[in-house]
Amino acid sequence: MSENDHFSRLHNLLDRINAGHEKINKVAEKSEPSDQLAAYILWFDSEPMIPERTYSIDFETESTLVQVTDLSFKIDVDSLSQLAAKKLDQDEIGYCKLSLGQRVSFDSYTSDQKTGSFKVFDTFNNSMVGAGLIDFALRRAQNISWHQTNINQETRSKNKKQKPCVLWFTGLSGSGKSTIADELEKKLHELGKHTMLLDGDNVRHGLNRDLGFTDQDRVENIRRIAEVSKLMVSSGLITIVSFISPFRSERSMARKLFNDGEFIEIYIDTPIEVCEARDSKGLYKKARAGQLKNFTGIDSDYEAPEMSEIVLQNSDANIDDLVNNILDYLRTNSNI
Ligand code: ADX
Repeated sequence: MSENDHFSRLHNLLDRINAGHEKINKVAEKSEPSDQLAAYILWFDSEPMIPERTYSIDFETESTLVQVTDLSFKIDVDSLSQLAAKKLDQDEIGYCKLSLGQRVSFDSYTSDQKTGSFKVFDTFNNSMVGAGLIDFALRRAQNISWHQTNINQETRSKNKKQKPCVLWFTGLSGSGKSTIADELEKKLHELGKHTMLLDGDNVRHGLNRDLGFTDQDRVENIRRIAEVSKLMVSSGLITIVSFISPFRSERSMARKLFNDGEFIEIYIDTPIEVCEARDSKGLYKKARAGQLKNFTGIDSDYEAPEMSEIVLQNSDANIDDLVNNILDYLRTNSNI
């Protein structure tokens, strides 16, 4: 199907939806640039559209990053009824609220078909994954601007005599992330460094207790933790993050929140057979018995990183050696 076909499918559908309604004569005023909008999206990638995942978006003249912050409903194209949805699968059409990486000028598709439409792309392979028609701009974040404070990341870090960063551990359940992270924090503490450890199991007891283990929930889990670790880094802390973080898309999103050199990915490369043999929480056994769904490495994906700053093999390694590896890296890069 060509790009034009995708857009005409969307146009036809919206014509059918609007046919039953009184025609609203929208004033064709030029809209102020905005970074939030409501739109209909037709998704055509075989990978589903997941809310809060970062994609690229092309408008008539501008491009930026985009996240679907709310998938209000998807549309049954036969009955035109609105269905609850957590993601958009291939060929589905949904009504979404979008948040953009910057303010952009656009119109509603009823006032201008060109400036009222957009294309969505995968940020990794740049393939076109969706097409959209704009309903209206949202004005929510319009009156919020960034407040420059007197005390900032630099001054806070100077006081702590360290260069803050995030040490982002990723790896399978049972790979040893939490054990290494815990030991690393202990060593940093002994060196008089100011740290914070965010661990998946712990954060899921509080801030993220509403999230489970579907792909959508994991995307949101990592989005929140990336934002929290950004706050921690701006407070001057060496922030240790220990989450499975199975998807490269969210790890890349997290990395982009930070300045060069601040995001240090540590891949705990332990083969699944070893993790499963350890099975310290008995979760692999439950997953194999079909009592635990969406378990990473069994019936939920783990996309291994390709270019981590630090890769640690942890089948039968000595924890002290692994921690010293990380400390050496931090010394070389003048973090400590
Ligand atoms: S993540 O995939 O969203 O990054 P996170 O690190 O927060 O996961 O949580 C993983 C921890 O939750 C595991 O260490 C394990 O103890 C527990 N857990 C419970 N159910 C699952 C599951 N289905 N898949 C993976 N881990 C699970």
